[in-house]
Amino acid sequence: MSKRLYIKTYGCQMNVYDSERISDTMKTLGYRAANEMADADLIVLNTCHIREKAAEKIYSELGRIRAIKADRSRAGKKTIVAVAGCVAQAEGAEIVRRAPVVDIVVGPQSFQNLTHLVFRAEQEGRHVIDTSFPADGKFEQLPKIRAPKSCTAFLTVQEGCDKFCTFCVVPYTRGVEYSRTPEELIVEARGLIENGVQELTLLGQNVNAYHGKAEDGSTWTLANLLDRLAQFPGLKRLRYTTSHPNDMTDDLIDAHRNNPKLMPYLHLPFQSGSDRILAAMNRKHTVEEYCAIIRRLRNARPDIALSTDVIVGFPGETDEEFNATMKLIEDIGFAQAYSFKYSSRPGTPAAAMENHVPEEVKAERLAKLQSLLSAQQSAFNAACVGSQVPVLFERPGREQGQLVGRSPYLQAVHVDDCLAHTNAIVDVVISGASRNSLTGVIKKTPALASCKE
Ligand code: 5AD
Ligand code: SF4
Repeated sequence: MSKRLYIKTYGCQMNVYDSERISDTMKTLGYRAANEMADADLIVLNTCHIREKAAEKIYSELGRIRAIKADRSRAGKKTIVAVAGCVAQAEGAEIVRRAPVVDIVVGPQSFQNLTHLVFRAEQEGRHVIDTSFPADGKFEQLPKIRAPKSCTAFLTVQEGCDKFCTFCVVPYTRGVEYSRTPEELIVEARGLIENGVQELTLLGQNVNAYHGKAEDGSTWTLANLLDRLAQFPGLKRLRYTTSHPNDMTDDLIDAHRNNPKLMPYLHLPFQSGSDRILAAMNRKHTVEEYCAIIRRLRNARPDIALSTDVIVGFPGETDEEFNATMKLIEDIGFAQAYSFKYSSRPGTPAAAMENHVPEEVKAERLAKLQSLLSAQQSAFNAACVGSQVPVLFERPGREQGQLVGRSPYLQAVHVDDCLAHTNAIVDVVISGASRNSLTGVIKKTPALASCKE
């Protein structure tokens, strides 16, 4: 009987990609997906360290896993527990000290070694820890074939970050910026497209800093890569995330005008609407520079929908500085956004700054900010009612007969229509909107005139 693997993924889309690759890697040892943790011979927590809450969740989950492992052991079954991802990288051996149930600790740059680590944990019966940053690329060591789960897939093109924003752990957990080669990415994309993928989201902590070295010695920008990928006839949609304002180069902005497969949506974090706070965050851009980029983007692609990340309560943030963040949101108008209370991360420069903002003030600011963002998101969605949008249907919805897809602006669109089917882009007339999603009906065409029994 084949062994079973259960992966629980926390945090960003890069972790979602990594989890998929971990499962590809373990497939080579015959591991198949378990439906439940209790059925798994190998449990992997792919973790996030970006905020304190995210990291603490792991320890409570490990408490539950301890009980599962004990139950399985009583039933004569062995369980290997691995902590992967950024908590593994940041805390290393500390994890097995706090949670001895853990057998393997493996960082985001070394999970390609998981097959060996599992073997060693089984043979040696003791904890194994690998948080190395190997010199030779991990991607080359991963299985070449991916089995996409739907018509939309992630493709990590860049990892790590050299920006060193003072609040952020990423440069320490994911390391310095690294871009995969264009050739390697084209091969991976081709494989996905041949297996039915129609939409690719290119991923990187700082994806628009992509600078891939090609075999002919040239350096490709993200815009070059997007242009090349757009040449695959089977590929219908392209997206990328997450970007830094300072890497929004002219050619990338032009791609939003000229590359018809690049969707009119951009996630561009601004973090704060105060120049003083931006400087303290080491963001290396001002509010006006951010606004100028947005103007250029809107000029290139007038219907572009914008998303962002915002932090409230950075050390020393005053009411006026918080109000400047509110004003920037009002001035720009976002279709979607992620907002966070500042969370002090050990080892980052901001953690050592003075004047940390009290928790209740952060909470109050976050509530205010989220109510503004939520109103903007609702208004953006409501404005779509009555319009017709092409929707790429990805999966069945929660209700019987319902399908869920995405609009070009990344809104979730639900339809309950016998004409809809997954893995196709179909025009939908939007009939309803809520803060988080749209509903609609398929536009009837001669080819799609009625339901087949
Ligand atoms: N506290 C709060 N939010 C943070 N982020 C990153 N580090 C922190 C932190 N220490 C947010 C930023 C970033 C997003 C991924 O997470 O907004 O863009
Ligand atoms: Fe973190 Fe800043 Fe790099 Fe984003 S750009 S990953 S916030 S250091």
